[in-house]
Amino acid sequence: MSDMQPRHAASSPRAVVFAAPVGVLVTALASLWALASPVQPLEAASLAPPAFAAVMELPAVVIASEPAADPCAAPVVTAALASGDDSAVIAGFGGADAFRAAVVAGAAPCISLSDPAHVWVVVNKARRLSPENYAPASLAGSGLTTTSRSGTARDDVAAALAGLAAAAADAGAGRIGVNNAYRSYGLQVRTYGQHVRDQGEARADTVSARPGHSEHQTGLAADIVACSPNCTDIHSFGGTPQSDWVAQHAWEHGFIVRYEDGHTAMTGYIAEPWHVRYVGKEIAAAYHAGGFHTLEEFFGLPAAPDYVE
Ligand code: DAL
Ligand code: ZN
Repeated sequence: MSDMQPRHAASSPRAVVFAAPVGVLVTALASLWALASPVQPLEAASLAPPAFAAVMELPAVVIASEPAADPCAAPVVTAALASGDDSAVIAGFGGADAFRAAVVAGAAPCISLSDPAHVWVVVNKARRLSPENYAPASLAGSGLTTTSRSGTARDDVAAALAGLAAAAADAGAGRIGVNNAYRSYGLQVRTYGQHVRDQGEARADTVSARPGHSEHQTGLAADIVACSPNCTDIHSFGGTPQSDWVAQHAWEHGFIVRYEDGHTAMTGYIAEPWHVRYVGKEIAAAYHAGGFHTLEEFFGLPAAPDYVE
């Protein structure tokens, strides 16, 4: 399968298969039958032996774990959305796989992939931030060494970054620091403008988002650097033990490497092994397990190699 093709186009929710000894199943089914039909009509009673015989020939019983028909109507989901508890929203859908399947199928009208306050927001060249001057409600430092004046992130993301760096250090991968994390709209104007002045617009567009199109403005993204012992710049990150560790383990801390090598046709950006994007532990685990390489593929969105305006 090509790397550019969605790995899972609107797959159905997973079924859970329980293999059990036939005798146990027969006993359980007999009990259920008795409970469900305390007074059996003649026809039902006469059907019972053939039904059991059929069951005995089955090696396993498939018990489907279907998500709610309309998760957006579930009180647990509406309450979680109202309180801004993204993890509880995903749990209300039945987990990240069911959440993704519902979004991809267009069966989750209460989930906006354009709302920058949620971990599932998708920002790319085709999806401009709205409002344009969006800023996260709460920013915090991660406590990590920071190599710019823009080291803050959304507070939960800052905590997750600290956890990621601590785990990398514990694993012997070395120290991780932060370069840019949150960038305001105004800072993105200056950052992109500098790239255009240095490299021209065409090249700048492969490495820097135009204002209003950067994940950094959501407070969910961070450019991380290797610090062994001194912190280097983002372009020195790839190929370091820190980078290798992050590529393998970032998902355990709720992050994905957003711009992987080989996926420029989907994202519009060349590889940025240093740019990690927080999507929360649930989505990150599903993304990792599903073998996804871009958020666009994960949510069944079109490729966004170019600006549409
Ligand atoms: N470097 C990434 C694409 C950004 O500017 O958001
Ligand atoms: Zn970045």
